[in-house]
Amino acid sequence: MPLPSGPAGMELERAPRRTVRELRSLFEARCAANSPGPPSLGPGRGARGPSVPRPTVTAEESGPGPGPPDELLGRGDRRTRGHVRLEAAPPRDPRQARAPGPWQKIRTMVNLPVISPFKKRQPWVQLAGHTGSFKASGTSGLILKRCSEPERDCLARLMEDALRGCVPAFHGVVEHEGETYLELQDLLAGFDAPCVLDCKMGVRTYLEEELSKARERPKLRKDMYKKMVAVDPGAPTAQEHAQHAVTKPRYMQWRESISSSTTLGFRIEGIKKADGSCNTDFKTTRSWEQVERVFTEFLDGDAEVLERYLSRLRQIRTTLDVSEFFRRHEVIGSSLLFVHDRTRRAGVWLIDFGKTTQLPGGQTLDHRRPWEEGNREDGYLLGLDNLIGILAGLAKR
Ligand SMILES: Nc1ncnc2c1ncn2[C@@H]1O[C@H](COP(=O)(O)OP(=O)(O)O)[C@@H](O)[C@H]1O
Ligand SMILES: [Mg+2]
Repeated sequence: MPLPSGPAGMELERAPRRTVRELRSLFEARCAANSPGPPSLGPGRGARGPSVPRPTVTAEESGPGPGPPDELLGRGDRRTRGHVRLEAAPPRDPRQARAPGPWQKIRTMVNLPVISPFKKRQPWVQLAGHTGSFKASGTSGLILKRCSEPERDCLARLMEDALRGCVPAFHGVVEHEGETYLELQDLLAGFDAPCVLDCKMGVRTYLEEELSKARERPKLRKDMYKKMVAVDPGAPTAQEHAQHAVTKPRYMQWRESISSSTTLGFRIEGIKKADGSCNTDFKTTRSWEQVERVFTEFLDGDAEVLERYLSRLRQIRTTLDVSEFFRRHEVIGSSLLFVHDRTRRAGVWLIDFGKTTQLPGGQTLDHRRPWEEGNREDGYLLGLDNLIGILAGLAKR
């Protein structure tokens, strides 16, 4: 369903951004006051800023999967399958610009035509997730993601954690037309016609709380029934066929079982190749060998990129081992985003913390134990071990 484009040159009411330091002091103030709720990180009042046009969806197919809770986002389950083109936003008012850090300087250099004379401009790509979640930022190298409180709080904590370098940098929250956005590092910035792969981590893609809610007050979803039947007409039970509907956890469990989530602890959500083509049809990619084939296609024989991905994944695993954040959070619906290009730059980052939840009362997880309702295990490390195993196997060939 195409979204309307915003009027060109539309003025954006830009709120004063909060720096990570400010977010932290707010968070600490709240902790010191022993308040049970999340820190009040909401944006301040708007100030004039550059325009940020709306994204135009060029290809979309509704699909399932978790994301920020719908009630927080004020909308139903609208998933994106395909890619979103974010129209270029004019540069931010130089008076508001921060002094560039070393990374920005490097990025500016590689963007210079002298150094990269054949650099291809490609539209920004959203491989998975909710339609309309992202907007271009007025600042190059940053994007805006619709804000949910759980994700905002996770990102604020992550900026103080060992995992900081493994997630997109979080620059604070901004307000636009009464809606709050997270300002995040654009992980595609600086890449030349990037190849992108979104891999959703974990054996479970819904929160335990969603399961109990569905049990108490089952909400029947006709849309999810339809998607189920489209893949496998024999999947719904006789009762589900009769009511032409399924519950959301039932649908999500089924999605986990037909993909590699349940068995391997991750699943591939989508791929974009250097030529701009996208494939998000991996619902039934389930076995070790099928996943190997997808990565083989994604890597297109580039052994150097494969080695870079492997060493980055190992570095992420080492960092997860020492991360306090990771020990104390149930990480659900988060992805690893793989990005590389023909210059052989390659990186992997953890994204999407809309369903990542802090455990109560100092509880911790080991992220490898099998999930049983009540233990809140997510199987994240099981998935990462398997992913590393698959790429290491390819590297030996
Ligand atoms: N920081 C980022 N930089 C570049 N691309 C991103 C970034 N965050 C998300 N994306 C793109 O958007 C898609 C959906 O992101 P995600 O955070 O999972 O959204 P949702 O919460 O709607 O599921 C990803 O698959 C990826 O293609
Ligand atoms: Mg997502």
